[in-house]
Amino acid sequence: MELVIANTAGFCFGVNNAVKIVTDLATKSEKKIYTLGPIIHNDQVVQKLKNYGVITINDPEESEAPAKVVIRAHGVGPQVIESLKTRGLEVVDASCPYVEKIHDLVNNKYREGYQIIIAGDKTHPEIIGINGWCDNSALIIEDENNVDNLPDIKKNICIVAQTTFIREKWEKIILRLNKRFENVLKFDTICNATDKRQTEAEKISKIVDMVLVIGGNNSSNTNKLYQICKTNCDNTFKVQTADDIPPVDIKKIKKIGITAGASTPDWVIKEVIHKMSELNRQDLEMSFADAFESS
Ligand code: F3S
Repeated sequence: MELVIANTAGFCFGVNNAVKIVTDLATKSEKKIYTLGPIIHNDQVVQKLKNYGVITINDPEESEAPAKVVIRAHGVGPQVIESLKTRGLEVVDASCPYVEKIHDLVNNKYREGYQIIIAGDKTHPEIIGINGWCDNSALIIEDENNVDNLPDIKKNICIVAQTTFIREKWEKIILRLNKRFENVLKFDTICNATDKRQTEAEKISKIVDMVLVIGGNNSSNTNKLYQICKTNCDNTFKVQTADDIPPVDIKKIKKIGITAGASTPDWVIKEVIHKMSELNRQDLEMSFADAFESS
């Protein structure tokens, strides 16, 4: 059995940066440290930070000064930062610079009078944060069919995408928007790291017999990798850790693809690779023993 491991598997730049900021603060700062939401969608990392005393809160109301509060890579709207400061907290912004770029874009175009549309999941924190930069006035769509349900928009339109959006869906949305409206200003804000990861996952899933997609259950980009791989390889499984690997009949599988979401730590990926290599080794030993017995 051969393992085909994605080069892009694991922490992206933005997640790496946010985790490093919290880890540094947890080990060096005298003050209490909060993160607004889990710093990444990975239970093991959140638990490790908790052991260092980092407290995860889901609402500014849950905080108590004096303390530092870290904004995670998904970013937040300006109203949230304001409410944290009003409570006397020191805000440490670990928003990914690529997400901050979208904030600036949306804020500028909103001020210029554009109707903002966001292609993404309206319940995802990144989208809630982006919407905050246009006073929560954005229209949020998830696919091209939603374009037909949009109201008649008289203003010029500016559309941006969630950084983890699937490019194929984005292109379909743009086609449909251009058919229905004039003057659509589009900014393809899909992150390059996401793009590369999805393209690689697609390629791998087309040449293997099984795919393991490693990542947290709430991780949007992991779920999208899963969708992409599942389209090409029915034998695709999402696992959070090596313990979730389903029973595999190694004899029937020649190639296994492994990829992972942007919030999956290296050591979790290594554990999965190790377990699959172990299964392979045991199978080879058994085949050797069988051959020896039958000779
Ligand atoms: Fe940033 Fe892209 Fe990661 S937007 S958080 S580098 S997926």
